[in-house]
Amino acid sequence: MSSSLDAALPETAHAETTRFRPAIHFTAQDTWLNDPNGLVYYGGLYHLFFQTNPYGSVWGNMSWGHATSTDLLHWTEHPVAIACDDSEEIFSGSVVVDYGNTSGFGTADEPALVAIYTSAYKDASEHRGTQAQSLAYSTDAGMTWRKYHGNPVLTRNSAHFRDPKVFRYEGDSGACWIMVAVEAQHQKVVFYRSADLKSWEFLSDFGPANADAGEWECPDLFPLPVDGDPDNLRWVLIVNVNPGAVAGGSGGQYFVGQFDGVRFVPDAGSLAAPAGVRALGDSASAESALQECLWLDWGRDCYASVSFSNVPDGRRIIIGWMNNWDYANHLPTAPWRSSMTLARGVRLTAVDGSTRLVQQPVLAGLGSAGDAAVAPELLRTGAFELQDSELRLPDTVPGSAQVIEADILPESAESVAFHLSANADSSSATMLGYDAAAGRLVLDRRLSGDTAFHEKFSSAESAPLVLDGGALKLRIVVDHCSVEVFAQDGKLVLTDLVFPHEGQVRNRLVVGGGRAIIRSLTVTALN
Ligand code: FRU
Repeated sequence: MSSSLDAALPETAHAETTRFRPAIHFTAQDTWLNDPNGLVYYGGLYHLFFQTNPYGSVWGNMSWGHATSTDLLHWTEHPVAIACDDSEEIFSGSVVVDYGNTSGFGTADEPALVAIYTSAYKDASEHRGTQAQSLAYSTDAGMTWRKYHGNPVLTRNSAHFRDPKVFRYEGDSGACWIMVAVEAQHQKVVFYRSADLKSWEFLSDFGPANADAGEWECPDLFPLPVDGDPDNLRWVLIVNVNPGAVAGGSGGQYFVGQFDGVRFVPDAGSLAAPAGVRALGDSASAESALQECLWLDWGRDCYASVSFSNVPDGRRIIIGWMNNWDYANHLPTAPWRSSMTLARGVRLTAVDGSTRLVQQPVLAGLGSAGDAAVAPELLRTGAFELQDSELRLPDTVPGSAQVIEADILPESAESVAFHLSANADSSSATMLGYDAAAGRLVLDRRLSGDTAFHEKFSSAESAPLVLDGGALKLRIVVDHCSVEVFAQDGKLVLTDLVFPHEGQVRNRLVVGGGRAIIRSLTVTALN
């Protein structure tokens, strides 16, 4: 069942791509992957199921792969959990712990894990041409799965009804299961309710709104306190969109609002220009409307982000697929292709009268390479100044990821830029720079290395950045083939893939057009 695209890859290319394998991001050992699925914490393990092609390194034969981790950084891959067959492919979905044994698949003492996934029916099926929601369950803590004989449990006779995310909702009239899914081509999130996960009642729908030029996929809905205040709960509705995201192609947007068990109502502050304005078909106003949407990530490579269920202490953790459908099947690696983003802890915070998500990578649990990884220049205590000059940072060490953390006052500088994974003179490098005149953070991979494998790959992304008390605060995670940037304490995130040429290991900080004060700067190697 392997595809022709896969067969076309030269064997030598496979060997050369080992050096792109990330150190701290999840990749499947030797297959394709896309969306994270069924993220659940159970029995001391984080379970990451994922869209995989068990037979190749391009999209196809969709099944759920499986990996587990105790710390969201070190992953163990397990056999395929839910496999495609002659009648269906297993598209994206979620997993819940059925504590009350509402489904009858487990017992009151030993709850089943229940997967709610999309059956993408093949021609051999009586349901051919439709996508519907189905169940599978595990009574051994997620290691083996059985499909429910009564599948599908929810159909709309639609060809594009998919990506169910199910969660337990406690309302005034008791508890129930809520499903959020999409009618992808109608840019609608649809909401359903169930007592037993098997029979579902339609509640409402939401959309189109904000970024609505492409298909809506992989939604999620969860409550969070604003700035930790339990009396100020808001609901976050994640809606992934492809194409039509802010950096082009695939991306994740979110809305903040209220959910009353039936309907999601967005806050005014989370809506961009009204649909009427965008419908004018004027590309400049469409572009500026996109800038007003709330984006989980302003880069090219963060898609299908959804959150874990059942994480203790009310923590909310999301993972995205670090890729973009514009070129996903063509990344220059094989037989593995694609990785996940780092797990990101998310919170809500009030910003200028609106409510915004902030994200930080989950990095606890990683050993650092210690002081040897820190260049002498960085051991200066206290602030120092750079004026139209540069500072060499420690080289990237193959096999390790690097975390660069900086707190910089750009002062009079026109630009403050990190040249990452560069060659000796930075003629090849990934550039991450603050452009003072534009007030934007720019991630430019046009000269990052191999960009020729697809015409849409070469790109520069940017996002509006508001200095915090005059400071630019960056946390940059570089891991072989990716750069993830968490700016301004996680209020702004950009993620891009990069494929540096062999030997591009230099890193430097370059200040141009004036003077900047470096208040702190650390570089840590992680392996
Ligand atoms: C998103 C997506 C989902 C679908 C899955 C199929 O990337 O298109 O909508 O369920 O991938 O692999």
